Amino acid sequence: MVTPSELVALAREAREHAYAPYSRFHVGAAIVCGSGRVYTGCNVENASYSHTCCAERTAVFKAVSEGERVVLGVAIVTDTQPPASPCGSCRQVLHEFGPDAFVIVANLQGEERHSTVRAYLPEGFDPEVVLAAIRRGQEAR
Ligand code: THU
Repeated sequence: MVTPSELVALAREAREHAYAPYSRFHVGAAIVCGSGRVYTGCNVENASYSHTCCAERTAVFKAVSEGERVVLGVAIVTDTQPPASPCGSCRQVLHEFGPDAFVIVANLQGEERHSTVRAYLPEGFDPEVVLAAIRRGQEAR
C-alpha cells in the first residue's frame, strides 16, 4: 500500500499537469482506492469557466471509471500557505466513495495538514439515505 508521503509526492507530480490558463492556480491530487491502486488528477479548466473540473474530482472520476468504488485516502497539493482545503463539490464527491477517507492537504514547502472527509463534510448528503428511499419506493411516484 502506498504510504501517505508517497501519496503526497504523487499529488505534487500530478499538479505539474494542471491545465489552468485562466486562474493560474495549479492543483494536484492523488487518491488511494480499495484495490490499493493510486489514481492522480489535476484541475482541468475550460474557456467556458464553469466547466472546470477540480483535481480531486478528476482523480475520483478516473478511479471510478476504472472500476474502483472505495476511496481510502486523498492527498491534495497546492502552492499556498496554508495548504488549500478541498472545495465543497469535491468534498461531496469524495464523500460518495470515501466518507471515512483520510485527507492530506500539502503545499510545495512541505507543510501538511491531516484530516478526514467526514471532518471536512459533516453530515454530507448520504448515498445510503437516497438508496434506502428508492428501495422503499419513495421515488417511484
Ligand atoms: N480547484 C481544485 O482543483 N480543487 C479544489 O478543491 C478547489 C479549486 C481548482 C479549480 C480551478 O481550476 C482553480 O482551482 C481555481 O479555483
